[in-house]
Amino acid sequence: MRNSTRSGVDPFIVMDVMEAARKAEEAGRQIIHMEVGQPGTGAPKGATEALAKAMEQGPLGYTVALGLPALRRRIAQMYGEWYNVDLNPERVVVTPGSSGGFLLAFTALFDSGDRVGIGAPGYPSYRQILRALGLVAVDLPTAPEHRLQPVPADFAGLNLQGLMVASPANPTGTMLDRSAMGTLIEAAQGQGASFISDEIYHGLEYEAKAVTALELTDECYVINSFSKYFSMTGWRVGWMVVPEDHVRVVERIAQNMFICAPHASQVAALAAMDCDEELQANLNVYRRNRALMLDGLPKAGFTNIAPPDGAFYVYADVSDLTDDSRAFAAEILDKVGVAVTPGLDFDPQRGHGTIRFSYARSTGDIEEGLRRLQRFMADRGLISAQA
Ligand SMILES: Cc1ncc(COP(=O)(O)O)c(C=O)c1O
Repeated sequence: MRNSTRSGVDPFIVMDVMEAARKAEEAGRQIIHMEVGQPGTGAPKGATEALAKAMEQGPLGYTVALGLPALRRRIAQMYGEWYNVDLNPERVVVTPGSSGGFLLAFTALFDSGDRVGIGAPGYPSYRQILRALGLVAVDLPTAPEHRLQPVPADFAGLNLQGLMVASPANPTGTMLDRSAMGTLIEAAQGQGASFISDEIYHGLEYEAKAVTALELTDECYVINSFSKYFSMTGWRVGWMVVPEDHVRVVERIAQNMFICAPHASQVAALAAMDCDEELQANLNVYRRNRALMLDGLPKAGFTNIAPPDGAFYVYADVSDLTDDSRAFAAEILDKVGVAVTPGLDFDPQRGHGTIRFSYARSTGDIEEGLRRLQRFMADRGLISAQA
């Protein structure tokens, strides 16, 4: 049997790194995980307790396709609390993770062959999902002076039907401030391109509050998730906010593609939204880890980094050290047992000279990881041993 052309998507390289790390652990080595893009913590206690209760009370069958009305209302309320945005709950669509949101958004907005701009470096699955849907992902190489976020000049005249941004971004953790987000929205709309804002790392900010595209326009799709701030990756639940006149279109697609997001996860997610104390404690761990990384990475010789405003990543330019980030990451894992992600996942052109460090795990792990990275670089003669 043949496979479709559009199924020829690339693997997620970080998964290969995780597998190599797992094998090393199986062989008895103790590995520090700086490759993973997920919290080391689980769902907040209040969320699991609410689910335990719900499991006793009913069968947790299908919900309606747009999601539990109480959850949609609570998400809308959060926009008032976090951003002072008055949001109609009818515009909220609960999705199977933000990944499910991408499928819904791309299907609702684009026709085969449409061109969608994505910043490079960026989250790899944008490109692969677009390709699998018969759409054209147009890489927009971003500049260090724009903190690796796209600017209107990057897509002027490119005839895009869509523009996708992320703030805070993966892999860089950099954010778009209100004016940068505003000029992107204006330029995209001026070109007739639909604007999609991936806001999955909102809540994980260290200097300033992230701006939601909804503060600036209603004519956009906002995609978010319970995976990161709410620490619920495996629960597969997220949400989208869409313009009022798109709700029915998205509902019809969601009914057919997914029926609904997992009911149990929706129950847990609703309760998680009232677990701020626990979630803020997680955030404080990331804040401490980030400070350690910003101090420790340059000392270890990783001096060329984009200062991260949010998320839990640091993206480092290592092109002065290697032109093969995959081999470099494999060597770090082999020599000192630290797993990191090669930049090729995020930027097919320039990623051979970059790597991403995640600081989502415990502070003890981060301290140990930094010590080992320093040793690796000293052994390679790239820094002095007493650095
Ligand atoms: C920028 C970005 N968007 C989306 C996702 C997918 O998240 P979800 O678990 O909500 O599908 C990730 C996962 O790491 C991500 O980094």
